[in-house]
Amino acid sequence: MVDRLANRVAIVTGAGQGIGGGIARVLGGEGAKILIADINEKSGGETASRISKAGGIAEFVRADLSKQADAQKVAETALDRFGRIDILCQNVGIFPVLAFDDMTEEVWDRVMNVNLKSAFFIIKACIPQMQKQRYGRIVVTSSITGPRVAAAGLSHYGASKGGLNGLIKGIAYEEAKYNITVNGIEPGSVLTEGTVQAHEALKKKAVSLIPLGRLATPEEIGTVALFLASDDSQYITGQTIIVDGGQTIVEWDMEA
Ligand SMILES: NC(=O)c1ccc[n+]([C@@H]2O[C@H](COP(=O)([O-])OP(=O)(O)OC[C@H]3O[C@@H](n4cnc5c(N)ncnc54)[C@H](O)[C@@H]3O)[C@@H](O)[C@H]2O)c1
Repeated sequence: MVDRLANRVAIVTGAGQGIGGGIARVLGGEGAKILIADINEKSGGETASRISKAGGIAEFVRADLSKQADAQKVAETALDRFGRIDILCQNVGIFPVLAFDDMTEEVWDRVMNVNLKSAFFIIKACIPQMQKQRYGRIVVTSSITGPRVAAAGLSHYGASKGGLNGLIKGIAYEEAKYNITVNGIEPGSVLTEGTVQAHEALKKKAVSLIPLGRLATPEEIGTVALFLASDDSQYITGQTIIVDGGQTIVEWDMEA
């Protein structure tokens, strides 16, 4: 443990499993006090106890981030338990695959609420404390899907992630005067519980589509979140970093 985030308090949403779990473990391993916020009580509690067992400090709060009252509760819990909010990693997201021809208003709204509106709620809930502190690092999990590329059945998801990238820039501009930075990560394909059903197909495709020849681990997204949450990136704001093993640099497949 190097403790690059000693005395920092971080909220990580959707950290019961997958990428959020990876971000929480990496930040917790660097000395940050972590508040895990997730809708799933069991997995959220497990992530917190895994960090504690590894020598870190972590607590869990159950919250549905698509609800404003719950987002407010998350910010209040962080203040109550740890007294500050230095870092917010807004990572919660869902990706129900549905062809655009079959898209319904219900599914559209659910994806927008969980992926995009949740960011509005939780960032809004954390900003007043960050303004008071004159310090804040906000890191949003976006995606290459939407901002860079398209995936079948994910038009709603791509729209939500494109929306997040716009939100990142807008908030970064307005909050810079308070020494609050807002950045994002655009992962490619990451091996998580959420992508488990597609694992075998993804793994096969990864070899041909991704120059590095494999999917990312949640920790490999976590280390980029660490950079954006630390003072190593203090002059970067309003940006996103693509972490995709080179997937989006390929114009055509040399092996095909
Ligand atoms: N896995 C990938 O390949 C990939 C690629 C690009 C971007 N992403 C993005 O990364 C983020 C995490 O993806 P993942 O693959 O780890 O997902 P996942 O399904 O494995 O984990 C998501 C977590 O969010 C929680 N969650 C879901 N809805 C919630 C809600 N309303 N309130 C609170 N918590 C909620 C779940 O309980 C779960 O713990 C998402 O924003 C996703 O869009 C994932």
